[in-house]
This record gives sequence, structure tokens and C-alpha cells, in this order.
Amino acid sequence: MTDTHADTEASLARSTERSLRIEEELAQDPGKFRILTGDRPTGNLHIGHLFGSLENRVRLARAGVETMVLIADYQVITDRDGVGPIRERVYSLLTDYLAAGLDPQQVTIFTHSALPELNQLMLPFLSLATDAELRRNPTVKSELDATQGRPMSGLMLTYPVHQAADILFCKANLVPVGKDQLPHLEQARVIARRFDERYGRADADHPVFPEPEALLSRSGTVLGLDGAKMSKSRHNTIELGFTADETAKLIKRAVTDSDRHITYEPETRPEVSNLVNIAALALGREPLDVAAELGDAGGGGLKKLVTEALNEYLAPLRARRVELAADQAYLEQVLRDGNERAREIAVQTLEEVRTAMQMRYY
Ligand code: TRP
Repeated sequence: MTDTHADTEASLARSTERSLRIEEELAQDPGKFRILTGDRPTGNLHIGHLFGSLENRVRLARAGVETMVLIADYQVITDRDGVGPIRERVYSLLTDYLAAGLDPQQVTIFTHSALPELNQLMLPFLSLATDAELRRNPTVKSELDATQGRPMSGLMLTYPVHQAADILFCKANLVPVGKDQLPHLEQARVIARRFDERYGRADADHPVFPEPEALLSRSGTVLGLDGAKMSKSRHNTIELGFTADETAKLIKRAVTDSDRHITYEPETRPEVSNLVNIAALALGREPLDVAAELGDAGGGGLKKLVTEALNEYLAPLRARRVELAADQAYLEQVLRDGNERAREIAVQTLEEVRTAMQMRYY
């Protein structure tokens, strides 16, 4: 047990250090990288997504890194019985992406369901992962725990393999992730390596699949307004699509404490510090400075600042969101184009896979 823990710590330290080095390489030569990231369309994006990952994607794409963004629609059914209002959610996600600044001229946005060739990779890839490996994947374990005794479906057990197909179909070499997703990335690396060992190559000089690396996100996690993990089911999120009034009402109800002196101490004062952090992110300042300036402003003063800062910061994004949502034809075109581009890549990769596996018969 302790060994596993120590291993995890060591590998996290390695990934963190490696990520710093990759950031340097990115600044020098963005053309060396292809990024793949994605979200499942299970709900609306909130400020946790915006500050935690979306802004980072926008930054990297603008820096000239080729970026693929997957709306992981098939992944929705790993842990629930149906697809839900999938169409609305896919378009809501796409709208958030574009409103946040992802430019469809630079970034390829696509869905699983439009890429049969990506999904077909699941077959050879499943032959390269063992049952034991999948059962001890920490992310699968914790996601299973979160479903409270629901029986594990075959798809739930194997979704790290499907996620490896997401990354490898386009030969992405960089995946921006939170540390909770590191085990998936390791699985993808193992599959890339084993594919090369077992099935060989399409051309003698290169493995079909490069081993992707993690780019750990730099910003800490934004918590919900009650200080717990931000999640829709806890009603503690601020969605990007909320109005300024809705945002103000939610922040008014946020949890603080009785000490009027505002400080930034995430360990001991998580709720207050989280609000300070949100204000700091929206203002583009350091949390310690924001806290010092608030001084004895109390919970009320803190909430006033968070509300104003956040609403002002989100105003342009929200205005674009409303505009985009009114142009369904445009949104459909963006998705159609993205799917077409991604599919060309998937077709090409599957050809290489068939060649490597000697399954080209004519
Ligand atoms: N599992 C990710 C999430 O829940 C979404 C996802 C699907 C993903 N495929 C991916 C992320 C590939 C990175 C790489 O948010």
C-alpha cells in the first residue's frame, strides 16, 4: 500500500518536472507538438473548467500548438444508463469552447461518434491491455466508487483503452491533464509501446504511435462555492452560461466564516481562500495581494469583490455565448468541419494500423 503511494508521489513529481520542461519547449517550438484534450458532454461548463483547463487550451492554441478538442460523446455512457439530452449538451460545450476563445480555424473540434475509425482502434488496443491493469486503474476505481454500487459495465472497465484511442488516433504527443487523469495517460503510453512490440510498424523507421506525454495544468483547482469539489449535482458551481444576476445570487450564498479579516490560507480556510482565488483569477492578480487589500472587509466585502470581478471578467465571454447560441447553422458547420478534419486523420491512422497488423489484403 505504502509502496503504491510512494510510487504515485514519485511519478507525480516526475510528471510535474517534465511538464515544466515541456512548457519551455512549447515556447521555443510549438510546431513540435500536437495536443489532444476533451470533455464529456454531461453538463454545462463552469468556471472551474474555464480556469482549470479551457483557458490553458486557448493559450496553447494561440501560441501555435496544433490542438484537437474532443467532445467525448461515447464516454457519456460509461457511467450512466442513457445519453441524456446529448444534442443540447454537445452544442452547449461547443458554444462554451468558442465563446472562451478557441478558434475553429486553428483548433479541430470533433465528436467520437463521427469517427468510426477512431472507435475501431478499440479492438486491437483491447488486446494490449490486461484485465488486472484496468481493474487497478485508480481513475476507474474512484469513478466507480462515485457511482455508489452501480455494477461496472464493460465499457466503464475499458474506457481508459477508449481514451487511449482518443489520444493515439491523431498521434497526439501532448495531453493537458489534471493529475487525476495521469493513470489514463500511462495506459495510453503502455498501449502505444505494446502496439509497436506486438504488431510492428507501417514503416520501419517509426512506431505507428508516439508515446504521449502529460502536460499538468498549472493553476490549482477552483472549488465550489461551499468549499467542496465543484460539481453540478452539489449546486455549487457557476456555469459560464449563467447571467450576471444569477452569478451574484450564487456568490451571496457562498460559504465563508466569521473572521472579518480576509486571508489566503487554502489549508486552514478553504472556503474564504477559494473565493479570494476566484477573484484573483478574474482580476489576473495574486491571491495573497487580493487578500491583503481586502483586509478587514469581511465575508460581505469579499463576496462583493468576487461578484464584480467575475461578472466583469465573464461579460465578453457571455456576450459571445449568447451570439453564438443564436447561430445554430454556424455551430453545425464548425462541428461538421471539425469532424471531417479529424476523420481524415483517423482514416490515415487506421490504414497504418492495418499495414502494421498485416491486414491489408488487396
Ligand atoms: N475523461 C475526460 C473527462 O472526463 C474526457 C476525455 C475523453 C479526455 N477522452 C480524452 C481527456 C482524451 C483527455 C484525453 O474530462
